[in-house]
Amino acid sequence: MICLGIESSCDETSVAIIKNGREVLANIVSTQIPIHKKFGGVVPEIASRKHLTNIAFVVKEALDTAGLDFKDIDYIGVTYGPGLIGALLVGVAYAKSLAYALNINIVPTHHIEGHIAANYLTYPDLKPPFMALVVSGGHSHLIHVKDYTDFDIIGKTRDDAVGEAFDKVARVLGLPYPGGPKVSKLAREGEFTYNLPKTKFDNFDFSFSGIKTAVINIANKEKDKLRKADLAHSFEQTVTEELVTTCMDAMKEYGINKVVLAGGVSANLVLREKLEKAAKKNNYECYMPDLKYCTDNAAMIASAAHYNYICGKTYDIKDKLDLNAIANLKIGE
Ligand code: KG4
Ligand code: ZN
Repeated sequence: MICLGIESSCDETSVAIIKNGREVLANIVSTQIPIHKKFGGVVPEIASRKHLTNIAFVVKEALDTAGLDFKDIDYIGVTYGPGLIGALLVGVAYAKSLAYALNINIVPTHHIEGHIAANYLTYPDLKPPFMALVVSGGHSHLIHVKDYTDFDIIGKTRDDAVGEAFDKVARVLGLPYPGGPKVSKLAREGEFTYNLPKTKFDNFDFSFSGIKTAVINIANKEKDKLRKADLAHSFEQTVTEELVTTCMDAMKEYGINKVVLAGGVSANLVLREKLEKAAKKNNYECYMPDLKYCTDNAAMIASAAHYNYICGKTYDIKDKLDLNAIANLKIGE
């Protein structure tokens, strides 16, 4: 089965063509980062407009790369949430029109299910059940993936997502958007010299707003004396430690011995190293997406759509004309 996947939830217009959920025939990502960078973050209205002008070209490029035609597509998988509503709507409206014109089914797909599925593209034999540590600009979740389309949330952030905290710390350190990779690069030149607050709850939730505020306060107080690389290093070490420790505790509690990393922050090398080391120590299997599938892309959406498709979560577009984007869509809905 050939799926055409569409992702437009934030600042990447992406279209992929995937065979049987695992084989990537094309994965085109048109990023808007250079445009939003000037504003220090994503401007939702600009993002929607750019998706609109890009999408048809990205679809064409994906088909050309795969060497396929519209008639070869069996169904369309599209991100319908969560994300920026205007941005999501462009992908959803395009997918609906294309499905209608081609008379094929549509599979509305959750963005986070896509991030988890990025691992199915990286590891052809990976199967649930496992624990997913989902870390992105909008999410920090521990999810028990019981089956391809069966998810239990074990813990989540009570305030900021970890990627959001990275981006805000970057801003206070004077680094450009998107800040996560820049903070991480600067951190390599620093040492652990700032003691930052850690949180620990009696369940498996996270919190990153306290540490973010502590970093902002230190930066405001120390001004010119601020050791930026040391602060970036201390921040990165503290948050990655919190993620990995909580994840290991949850796995012990739930008796799960396989861990899967997912989301944009899974590109963070310190997090990858710490998770791998902790998993090894506990004799757990550990899976992390190939770097090209960590941040937003449509290949991961098409892979997640495949599993929804074979589970029957697929619609004849004529019966699903009311399909809408949902900005705050919860996983498993
Ligand atoms: O998954 P994603 O592409 O978009 C959302 O679904 O949110 O994640 C983007 C987030 C941004 O906050 C970005 O700063 C962060 O992932 N990120 C990183 C790294 N690469 C991307 N954070 C820390 N270290 C990185 N290497
Ligand atoms: Zn994402």
